Amino acid sequence: MAQAIRKAVFPVAGLGTRFLPATKAMPKEMLPVVDRPLIQYAVEEARAAGIEEFVFVTGRAKSAIEDHFDHSFELERSLTESGKLEAVKELRAWMPAPGQISYTRQQMPLGLGHAVWCARNHIGDEPFAVLLADDLILAGPGCLEQMINAYQEVGGNVVAVEDVPRENTLQYGILDVVTDDGYLARARGLVEKPKPEDAPSTLSIIGRYILQPNIFDELAMQQKGKGNEIQLTDAMARTIPKTPFHGFRFDGTRFDCGNRFGYLEANIAFSMVREDMKDRVTQIISKYSE
Ligand code: G1P
Repeated sequence: MAQAIRKAVFPVAGLGTRFLPATKAMPKEMLPVVDRPLIQYAVEEARAAGIEEFVFVTGRAKSAIEDHFDHSFELERSLTESGKLEAVKELRAWMPAPGQISYTRQQMPLGLGHAVWCARNHIGDEPFAVLLADDLILAGPGCLEQMINAYQEVGGNVVAVEDVPRENTLQYGILDVVTDDGYLARARGLVEKPKPEDAPSTLSIIGRYILQPNIFDELAMQQKGKGNEIQLTDAMARTIPKTPFHGFRFDGTRFDCGNRFGYLEANIAFSMVREDMKDRVTQIISKYSE
């Protein structure tokens, strides 16, 4: 049986330039979908998958994320004094235990591969997960839990994938597939953001990864790729001769919340699955569809 996945890395240092001006003074990971920030969904998904240690790779102007996962004494006190005990209980319910979260900074914006490499001392020599909070996934069980189950079968590196229209390959890491049973696709290579005409397939990497620790040896080479950045995709591709690589087609819907339409759609989808909101949201949508 493959070694258990206990730790997850959350790269949250990105500037969120696709969402300006909303993200000028606020981290993009703090954008709310319905009533909780994107990063909270990612942390809850990880926790539901059995993750025990959460490593955040942050950057400047990201302190709101740290505050979000800490007690707010003033808030809890004033809620308690006004008798809103249920609200206090809810706030505490998803709070990580002391010492479960650690933070390290990516001092320079050198790419996703570099961000993951910044977490190496927190991960050590064990397999781990990476979750990109702006890929929000509506699924039950959660995407990472599904991936860990698949990983128990195949080991190695496993990433979440979905088919995208060929004209969109420029936005994703793309798999060069050798075998595909419709659920797990084994790859012999990967290309970061190829032009549609150069893409080896349309199977794209979504922001969920299970990685073996040998990825850090590749990332340590600091080799630059697409956009002059240190790409996680390139480092994963270089491990393929030694480490099996599979794309996993998860059961669920993914929303690209780094994009205005994806974000808007996520708000609709996540409110429509809430019994207390569904009817009202349906009415609102039909009001604007007339
Ligand atoms: C990153 C990765 C890319 C992956 C994508 C998933 O790109 O570099 O391989 O497909 O995340 O969201 P980014 O969206 O950060 O440009």
